[in-house]
Amino acid sequence: MSAPTPTAVIAAPRASDRVRVAAMVESTGVFRPDEIDVALEVFDEAVDQPGADYHALGAYEDGRIVGFTLYGPTPCTVATWDLYWIVVDPQAQRLGVGRRLMERTQEAVRAHGGRLVVVETSSRTDYGPTRAFYEALDYVRAAHIPGYYAPGDDLIVYTKPLDPPPAETVHHG
Ligand SMILES: CC(C)(COP(=O)(O)OP(=O)(O)OC[C@H]1O[C@@H](n2cnc3c(N)ncnc32)[C@H](O)[C@@H]1OP(=O)(O)O)[C@@H](O)C(=O)NCCC(=O)NCCS
Repeated sequence: MSAPTPTAVIAAPRASDRVRVAAMVESTGVFRPDEIDVALEVFDEAVDQPGADYHALGAYEDGRIVGFTLYGPTPCTVATWDLYWIVVDPQAQRLGVGRRLMERTQEAVRAHGGRLVVVETSSRTDYGPTRAFYEALDYVRAAHIPGYYAPGDDLIVYTKPLDPPPAETVHHG
């Protein structure tokens, strides 16, 4: 596979990307089979009914998907959005693809009026790079629930407030 670059094209994913998405999620090695099933269910829903409950963005290199995000408004909140999944193909990691995907995802959330992004991850050692990634993108640890996922596997919640839209786009009265 040719080396992807941070200039990967960001676009809505297609149903035909599902096979590569499934392979990509599995090849990260951090997700359990039940988590992979849930990721693919959310991917299917985001592609079949974009924006109904879930939104998706894909990163493409030479027309081939190398990463994606799945996100959506958090029910029963005022303009809080959840980042449900972000995955970058292991062969395409550390090249800026994840950063670019997150920047575009945050822009999309902001365009929908979102004000706060929440991400949940694990305290496990193999999620160290994931935590480093969120922290590099200015996500701040907001909560820590010991033993949430499993004994010894804690939930870490990161949040990031988004800048409000530029003043000229705010309409009064
Ligand atoms: C987390 C993940 C999406 C990051 O994607 P990526 O394209 O590799 O990230 P980027 O190249 O944009 O990295 C941006 C910054 O994050 C930090 N970072 C990313 N990966 C890191 C790693 N392995 N170790 C330390 N810091 C890391 C760095 O500061 C990096 O900037 P730099 O490369 O200039 O130093 C990717 O590692 C991944 O898919 N992991 C497995 C799946 C996962 O854990 N998903 C989240 C849970 S749902």
